[in-house]
Amino acid sequence: MAKTKKAWFCQSCGSEHAQWMGQCKSCQAWNTLVEEVIDRGNPTETWSLKSTNGPQVLSLSEVNAEDIARKSTGDHELDRVLGGGLVPGSLILLGGEPGIGKSTLLLQVALQLGSKVLYASGEESQQQIRMRAERIGFQGPGCQVVSEVSTSKILQAAEQIQPDVVIIDSIQTSYHSQLDSAAGSISQIRESTAEFLRYAKARHVPVILVGHITKEGQLAGPKVLEHMVDVVLQFEGDRHHLFRMLRASKNRFGSTQELGIYQMDGQGLKGVTNPSGLLLGKREEGLSGSAIGIPSEGVQPLLVEVQALVSSAVYGTPQRSCTGFDTRRLNMLLAVLEKRCGFRLGAKDVFLNVTGGLRVEDPALDMAVCAAILSSNSDISIAKGVAFAAEVGLGGEIRPVHRLEQRINEAGKLGFDTVFCAKQNGIKQGSQNGVNVVPVRRMEDLVTALFG
Ligand code: TYD
Ligand code: MG
Repeated sequence: MAKTKKAWFCQSCGSEHAQWMGQCKSCQAWNTLVEEVIDRGNPTETWSLKSTNGPQVLSLSEVNAEDIARKSTGDHELDRVLGGGLVPGSLILLGGEPGIGKSTLLLQVALQLGSKVLYASGEESQQQIRMRAERIGFQGPGCQVVSEVSTSKILQAAEQIQPDVVIIDSIQTSYHSQLDSAAGSISQIRESTAEFLRYAKARHVPVILVGHITKEGQLAGPKVLEHMVDVVLQFEGDRHHLFRMLRASKNRFGSTQELGIYQMDGQGLKGVTNPSGLLLGKREEGLSGSAIGIPSEGVQPLLVEVQALVSSAVYGTPQRSCTGFDTRRLNMLLAVLEKRCGFRLGAKDVFLNVTGGLRVEDPALDMAVCAAILSSNSDISIAKGVAFAAEVGLGGEIRPVHRLEQRINEAGKLGFDTVFCAKQNGIKQGSQNGVNVVPVRRMEDLVTALFG
């Protein structure tokens, strides 16, 4: 067998080096050289006109339009986030912080699937996987486990048992024997992923990879990993909170708007079908600094409680702290409240919390955030049964949000009687499905409506 050739490539300028060096000779960048396998054994392919074995080219209308049969994972939330189930031959990356429940989720899937699954773990022994499976309490006769780190051995096992789905836990422990660098290094991650990708495409088997998240909040391994895979799922949430959220940050076969919500208990992860009800069920009413917003993550609107605490700053620079909301957006909203509505928040500490451990990105939460801050600032509670669904612009104008009707209906279902929204949404003031809809145009109008 011909010896594989390796070289070191600079990740910043791409230049090739025969050996590892601390600094790239061409661009002078430090610590950017990464080992890669290069195979120059075969003569490079040419594309001359005389060549007869070119690729098959089809007119798009000739391509078979039959929908590819997706495979349900048996997990309703995961299916929804994937866009309807697993696509044959797809490579899926599931990222998340340690301890969030990635292994638990995938083992549950492996046990529920009902067809043959190869679960390869480089982190746990077969006994440990068995213990976890017993804890989850699922019977899964089709789940085959292997405790192995070598990519070639894992794929050899896959060739032996011909599974319908392969799960790799995790890509950071996978080891490609042709490279000398340690498992978890950039080149190992890239080569191992490429190997699993080749397997997935050749055998039309979906492969799910677990990826750890670094301290900076990125999937360990460079962005290149995200380019290679078809779907990137992020499993997030606070370990100490009720909910875990699953969203797709990239999906070649579906939307990235969907949000799956899970709850971790003693018997594994359970999909949550009525998160709003659960979130609001334990709410203490009549407190100042609390407001209900209706963000819509995916198609399903959610009712979440936003809590704000505004107090006089003890130190020179006021503190601003957020949980579940973007701090920069909070700063922007505070500036709007100060400039357009005349509230002196510049000398105040502001703390904001979206309850239940949810992280909300939908700007429709803006108005609820402003309302919570104003309520805490004036120490006047917001009336029971009031919810907010609108974005706030830099000019203090209230901006429309999409799918307002669904949000209003969801609020109505949970017993809310008033929803503040943007005038620009084009909805008339009055009752809609038993909910009193109040359109407002500017932040000042909201302040008058709420606090007189
Ligand atoms: P794990 O799935 O191992 O996380 P990851 O693979 O993302 O690192 O486990 C997550 C946590 O969940 C772990 O700290 C223990 C807890 N857990 C439960 O609360 N209930 C359960 O049934 C299981 C299996 C784990
Ligand atoms: Mg794990």
